[in-house]
Amino acid sequence: MSRGIAILGSTGSIGRNALRVIEALGPDYRIVGLSAHTNVELLAEQVRRYEPKLAAVTDGPHAERFRALMNGQNLAVLSGPAGLTELIRGDGVDTVLTAVVGAAGLPSALAAAKAGKRLAIANKEPLVIAGELLTRTAREHGSALLPVDSEHSAVFQAMQSGSTREVDRILLTGSGGPFRGATRETLRNVTREQALSHPVWSMGPKITIDSATMMNKALEVIEAQWLFGVPVDKIDVLIHPESIVHSLVEFVDGSVVAQLGEPDMCLPIQYALTYPQRVPGVAKRLRLEQIGRLRFEKPDPQTFRALPLAYEVARAGGTAPAVFNAANEAAVEEFLAGRIQFLQIMDLVENCLNRHSVRPAESLEELLEADVWARREVREMLGG
Ligand SMILES: NC(=O)c1ccc[n+]([C@@H]2O[C@H](COP(=O)([O-])OP(=O)(O)OC[C@H]3O[C@@H](n4cnc5c(N)ncnc54)[C@H](OP(=O)(O)O)[C@@H]3O)[C@@H](O)[C@H]2O)c1
Repeated sequence: MSRGIAILGSTGSIGRNALRVIEALGPDYRIVGLSAHTNVELLAEQVRRYEPKLAAVTDGPHAERFRALMNGQNLAVLSGPAGLTELIRGDGVDTVLTAVVGAAGLPSALAAAKAGKRLAIANKEPLVIAGELLTRTAREHGSALLPVDSEHSAVFQAMQSGSTREVDRILLTGSGGPFRGATRETLRNVTREQALSHPVWSMGPKITIDSATMMNKALEVIEAQWLFGVPVDKIDVLIHPESIVHSLVEFVDGSVVAQLGEPDMCLPIQYALTYPQRVPGVAKRLRLEQIGRLRFEKPDPQTFRALPLAYEVARAGGTAPAVFNAANEAAVEEFLAGRIQFLQIMDLVENCLNRHSVRPAESLEELLEADVWARREVREMLGG
């Protein structure tokens, strides 16, 4: 089976790992398109090495710089946010790996589903914002949605032991991030650098902060609801500091099926690309005798408010998840820029949700409107 792959966000942490995975998979897996937002130097290196026919640069001024860098290269350069949607429609693209960060990936993920592409989904935010729309569109157009998030890849693998009807509970694991065991008091003065030092995973800055607030796990609960068609009340979170058991599924007969591996994104990226096949790859092998001990704990919903909020938001539906996600994206941006304290991130998200009147939302436009509203609201709350 031969695949033509477009990586949306090839300059990011997932994108760079995906290139390593695909290179090792051999000639049946061809890189047809790549995209960057601002890191055009790295994109230029990737183009020289992997020779895709298409490249997109979503940030306008950087696209001009990239064109100048690529002068003379046999390459079609697409630019602006619409460049991603054009990229997925490119000749020879049958598989799209969504590895851009945030809501910016929503229009292209939806377009890929509409075009019936195989969608390897790392970019979780579109599923959170538009889970119903995205999964329905994929179903209607024969697009397969394959999870890349390590927890969802684990659930996807465990689900092959039974049917959705037979699932009693999905147990998503999480390392607990850099502040596992902390109280609100100890979190009051944590710095950007402390929040960016994840004990297990090396990832982009936005998801690293989301791991510190537990917003990442909150987004994952909503993501799992849509990927697996299971109500959120059947999805639980377990803190597992070693990050070896990537998630578990408990079936109605009491049998619990888990997927284990080293904390290495190469494995779930590869499985999303090769599924239903398994082939040797670059992921680090697990040696349990070297790990020794695996711990599991209940999360602390009082300190990490993101988790209980996720359940409320999922039950509310409509525009609520879009507001939840956008308020968080805006607040994380403020924190990374050094303009707010760590605890203010979730305070802003919670206040934004409190100010929002949830509406049903069926179209992309309605969801994007809620996203814009939430970002403006966060700026207003900060007096901007
Ligand atoms: N990293 C992980 O281990 C991991 C695990 C599970 C799920 N995920 C999910 O995968 C996604 C990517 O995470 P990451 O850690 O790889 O992030 P990252 O390292 O920050 O990379 C983000 C990528 O998106 C591009 N980008 C940024 N803003 C954009 C915009 N407005 N429009 C289009 N492209 C944009 C970046 O381009 P430039 O760098 O060129 O500016 C880069 O290629 C996130 O949704 C995250 O939640 C990540």
